[in-house]
Amino acid sequence: MANSTRPKFFLLFFTLLVLSTLLATDSIPQPFSTSLSPKQLGLKRQKLSHLHFYFHDTVSGREPTAILVAESPASNISKTLFGSVFMMDDPLTLQPDPNSTLVGYAQGIYASADQREIGFLMVLNFVFVEGKYNGSTLSLLGRNPIFDEVREMPIVGGSGRFRFANGYAQAKTHTFDLKNADAIVEYNVYVFHY
Ligand SMILES: *[C@@H]1O[C@H](CO)[C@@H](O)[C@H](O)[C@H]1NC(C)=O
Ligand SMILES: *[C@@H]1O[C@H](CO)[C@@H](O)[C@H](O)[C@H]1NC(C)=O
Ligand SMILES: *[C@@H]1O[C@H](CO)[C@@H](O)[C@H](O)[C@H]1NC(C)=O
Repeated sequence: MANSTRPKFFLLFFTLLVLSTLLATDSIPQPFSTSLSPKQLGLKRQKLSHLHFYFHDTVSGREPTAILVAESPASNISKTLFGSVFMMDDPLTLQPDPNSTLVGYAQGIYASADQREIGFLMVLNFVFVEGKYNGSTLSLLGRNPIFDEVREMPIVGGSGRFRFANGYAQAKTHTFDLKNADAIVEYNVYVFHY
């Protein structure tokens, strides 16, 4: 007898405990917050998209797309340029050819954050200007050890068509000019969004 009632008692006790916790937090008035169902926001089905483009980082010449904006006095004696901060507005194109179709820009910062190898902290927004993604953005925050074959960096959010985005980007150097440090990088981006 005791053996069969004990599980029921615990189930009841546990249910009451959960309910009272939920009621306690839900009953506190929150004038700035209401619960919504995804449908009320027009969110239907989560999609997985693969984006593929080439990133053109030009530091040389008269019209660079990335410029040094800050460094420490020790940055230029560091073998990894530790502490150097660059601001970029790098075009993104469909093909490695810089004159191929423009799909967007990578706007943000890369900064040398590693004292042992070149490893950039990347903080940027991919700002798309083409087709249905025109005006939408994806935000990337990650570590980029530029001499690795493939670098993986998280996509931490997005706007427009990419609201609620999360995923990752894989960067692979297509060409790197050792003389002037200009680079063309292939990007494969995988994102969940609605
Ligand atoms: C490093 O940069 C500082 C100023 O930021 C400059 O005074 C110095 O000459 C530079 N050193 C080298 C080796 O370029
Ligand atoms: C891109 O086009 C410009 C002129 O519009 C030309 O000067 C340049 O050489 C072209 N670049 C390539 C890689 O074809
Ligand atoms: C992208 O949107 C802007 C602003 O709405 C518009 O001016 C531009 O023509 C659009 N570009 C494309 C390729 O649709």
